[in-house]
Amino acid sequence: MTMRYLTAGESHGPQLTTILEGVPAGLTLTVEDINEDLARRQKGHGRGRRMQIEKDTVDILSGVRHGQTLGSPITLAVTNDDWKHWTNIMGIEPLTKEVEEVKRKVTKPRPGHADLNGAIKYGHRDMRNVLERSSARETTVRVVAGAVARKFLSELGIQVAGHVTEIGGIKAGLQVIDDLQDLKAKTEASPVRCYDKNVEQEMMDAIDTAKKNGDSIGGIVEVIVEGVPVGVGSYVHYDRKLDAKLAAAIMSINAFKGVEFGVGFEAASLPGSMVHDEIAWDEERGYYRLSNNLGGFEGGMTTGMPIVVRGVMKPIPTLYKPLQSVDIDTKEPFQASIERSDSCAVPAASVVAEAVVAFEIAKAIVEQFGQDRMDVIKGNVQRMRDHAAKF
Ligand SMILES: Cc1cc2nc3c(=O)[nH]c(=O)nc-3n(C[C@H](O)[C@H](O)[C@H](O)COP(=O)(O)O)c2cc1C
Repeated sequence: MTMRYLTAGESHGPQLTTILEGVPAGLTLTVEDINEDLARRQKGHGRGRRMQIEKDTVDILSGVRHGQTLGSPITLAVTNDDWKHWTNIMGIEPLTKEVEEVKRKVTKPRPGHADLNGAIKYGHRDMRNVLERSSARETTVRVVAGAVARKFLSELGIQVAGHVTEIGGIKAGLQVIDDLQDLKAKTEASPVRCYDKNVEQEMMDAIDTAKKNGDSIGGIVEVIVEGVPVGVGSYVHYDRKLDAKLAAAIMSINAFKGVEFGVGFEAASLPGSMVHDEIAWDEERGYYRLSNNLGGFEGGMTTGMPIVVRGVMKPIPTLYKPLQSVDIDTKEPFQASIERSDSCAVPAASVVAEAVVAFEIAKAIVEQFGQDRMDVIKGNVQRMRDHAAKF
């Protein structure tokens, strides 16, 4: 058995929807569990107007009864409050004779977006048909799916926390993170989701400067997962390696360009003695590592140490400062400018990264320890923990 989800919906369509299949029966789930994460995704210094227009909330339309999952597919929908202003432009019905002219047709592809490649691929002369779906608005329902996964994980004693370590070249100072509750408290209180108060203002200034210059900036987010038992994932086949699945999940977030675990790319310049995590054992803890340079993975499996994964987000591609492009109707060059855009979405992206990581871990746990019932999964996970402790 596996856990999976589909998402559907256009950025300015009536709603975004996800259907989750394979969530075990007996998980306590309410809209509040999900709405909290939706609100977190909408915050962050540097977000544009849309985040102020709309306050996302979820409707649960199937698969949950009296606050408990049933084991059947869970349909979750987020209504676009702005839809009433888009019914002509995004209408489902065929165009009438009176409304032959498509309003706000897009023929000018924006560099860094899916516009041009998507239009060529699907044969769309109006690139709104591309940008409406390629927009990061879709990450709203990925956060919804991730919130369900996070709830599932929390019942197994597994915690997930995401935060921002770098924005526009401003780096958080190195700190040992050994208390996820403390990390969460600090980052929730920060407008840039960064634990380091010393650089918070600098990060906000960098975002403001970029905005003033009509530009955008990117950054790095980190997700930490604590409490995953040893041996989730597998070395036996390439498509069972859990670190590879997490890397794909992070890379699938709009604008993400790279992934690393633990010391990551720094491993290229470090000697092996400073990379590999030495093994120790004591009665109370069982096996543990003297360091966590490999970010919780060896051989595609969890080591029992916290999973530490980072992703790099490129600067947002829609700029007030125009970039050169070509109109696909006239073939004339033009300076690509914008409808509306954020200047930095790295803080929001850290919430999306948490969600996609939570989903992959939950999925791996259901595949490995799962059956159809929450109580059975809990028992199986505990048996694995006991087995590892006695081994
Ligand atoms: C949370 C989040 C918000 C984003 N907001 C915007 C935005 O306001 N404007 C924009 O041009 N791109 C935004 N992006 C990035 C684009 O969606 C992305 O760069 C584009 O879809 C092209 O995909 P690619 O960069 O993965 O190739 C955002 C990405 C994320 C994760």
